[in-house]
Parts: sequence; C-alpha cells; structure tokens
Amino acid sequence: MSSTDHIYQQLGPAKIRELVEAFYPRVQAHPLLKPIFPDDIRPVMEKQYLFLTQFFGGPPLYTEKYGHPMLRARHLPFPITPKRALAWLDCMDQALDEVGIVGHVRSLIWSRLVVSAQHMINQNDAENQSIMKDD
Ligand code: HEM
Repeated sequence: MSSTDHIYQQLGPAKIRELVEAFYPRVQAHPLLKPIFPDDIRPVMEKQYLFLTQFFGGPPLYTEKYGHPMLRARHLPFPITPKRALAWLDCMDQALDEVGIVGHVRSLIWSRLVVSAQHMINQNDAENQSIMKDD
C-alpha cells in the first residue's frame, strides 16, 4: 500500500467532505484569499472534494468528471503569490485541526499539500503589491 492509499483508507469520504467544509469558510474569511475566489464557493468545494479524494489515493473522481487535473495550469488565471500559498496552507492547517485529523496521516497529508501549494505559485509577492513595503 502506498502512502497515498494509506491517506484515503484512514480518512474515508466523510472525513474528506468535512475537511473541505471546514476549509472554504476560512478561505472566504481570509483577506488575501477572499478576493480571488468566487462568492459562490459551492462549485469550488465540490471540485476540491473530487480532487482531494483522488489526491489522497481514493477513486479518480476528479479526472472522471473534469479530465487531467493540470492544477498549475488551472490556477494560472489567479495571482498566486508566496503569501497566498502560505495563507492557503494556514487555512488548511486550521481545517485539519477542526476536523481532528492528527498523527501520521496528518503528516502525510501536510507534506503533500505543502509541495502542491508551492507548485501553484505563479507570481512574486512584490508584483502584486502597492508601495507599502512592510506588509
Ligand atoms: C497555493 C495556494 C492556492 C490558491 C491561492 C488557490 C486558489 C484557487 C482558486 C482561486 C481557484 C479557482 C476558483 C474558481 O473556480 O473560480 C482554485 C481552484 C482549485 N484549487 Fe486551488 N489554490 C491554491 C492551492 C491549491 C492546492 C495546493 C490544491 C490541491 C492540493 C488546489 C486545488 C484546487 C482545485 C482542485 C481547484 C478546482 C480546479 C477546477 O477548476 O477544476 N489548490 N484554487
């Protein structure tokens, strides 16, 4: 069993759903993230549920519906800076806490999400900032 199969086996669909439900309200409340997400967050939540299911080693639900994820390409229309990647990860960290995902499985999830979030970065913080130097 690979480590990603292990994640899906440990969590199961209900826990993945809970994680998504805990994550997006935080995204919508975050000053850096809110502006780049649509107000109607439900479709994004549904896609994320399908995606995380396969990302964690479950059935390829996202690919069956939307084709190859190509996540970096799908994120290119949105300005993803290092600060936004950290903000995304911070929301996820809190969501993992909220739904009580702990221990080894959490470490596995976390290391995979950190790598993916890093990969989504498509512009510098500086390009996206005003003259404010120290924010
Ligand atoms: C690094 C910080 C990230 C930011 C700021 C970010 C932001 C976004 C935004 C703005 C959208 C589009 C919402 C819309 O449809 O209008 C999106 C879609 C999505 N994101 Fe992210 N994202 C990040 C990282 C990630 C990571 C690490 C993953 C997966 C592990 C992920 C998975 C997805 C998925 C599956 C979608 C839906 C793609 C589709 O349209 O089919 N994102 N994200």
